Amino acid sequence: MEHRRTPGMLTLVSPAKVNLFLRILGKRADGYHELASLFQAIDLFDTLHFSLAKEDTLTCSDPTLSCDHTNLVIKALNLFRRKSGLQFCMKLHLEKRIPTQAGLGGGSGNAATTLWALNALHNFKFSENELQTWSSEIGSDIPFFFSHGTAYCTGRGEKVRDLPKLTLSPLSLFKPPEGVSTPEVYKALNLQLCAKIDPEKLLEDFYSGDPFFLNDLEEPAFRLLPLLRHYKTSLLEKGCSFAVMSGSGSSFLSVGASSSNLRKSVRRAVGSWYEEV
Ligand code: C5P
Repeated sequence: MEHRRTPGMLTLVSPAKVNLFLRILGKRADGYHELASLFQAIDLFDTLHFSLAKEDTLTCSDPTLSCDHTNLVIKALNLFRRKSGLQFCMKLHLEKRIPTQAGLGGGSGNAATTLWALNALHNFKFSENELQTWSSEIGSDIPFFFSHGTAYCTGRGEKVRDLPKLTLSPLSLFKPPEGVSTPEVYKALNLQLCAKIDPEKLLEDFYSGDPFFLNDLEEPAFRLLPLLRHYKTSLLEKGCSFAVMSGSGSSFLSVGASSSNLRKSVRRAVGSWYEEV
């Protein structure tokens, strides 16, 4: 993932992820949900520029994104300094391409990339395993980004089992203009309405060439934002062979949208940003 390296400076790409399936298994005493999900990194990415500096600054190509302590890049910087005991400041710039509130893990990937970069700038003082463990303190999806790209994640998402590369047809991603908030989607979840399928069986089916795409967070997301159900129906009506939401939404992944006519009609129906990954 490394682009270019000069002393004290680094430019890295920070990929997005999709959830090929996402099962919610129950609610935990700490308020989080126990999940089981097949995560896949995709070739849609942000770019992050790092340089050692006299004071901390974060700038972003997307002016709507906050660049203060709430940004996961700053949270990762503060986490690395706290864990390592090292004192330094950074000038950071984020070129954003991954849509936010999309269920594509853009912010989580940015945090993982930041931890990796800071460690690289300090001569790889810490192992990737250490960075991965630390990262779970600031977000459940961040540890996945230390995997090799395909992983089965359990617990609240932070237990990562690396898996062999999957052979899948190219996926199409649709991001409706509307976004949804992850905590709100989890709050709206009714566990009684979740699928009953054993996630280990779903995993087996993906590797035996009979994938079944499923997401237990669709139902609460659709209840919060009914337009999302309409988008899913439109994708199917326009000829996509399946359409499933990624993470807590609002983007959908699909196959079978590769003809340009279909893409145009889907774009008209969903009014959405489209990318093939
Ligand atoms: O861990 P992260 O900060 O990404 O989670 C955001 C929110 O999503 C949490 O505050 C929680 O409301 C919800 N969540 C959950 N169960 C998970 C992951 C996230 O309830 N496994």
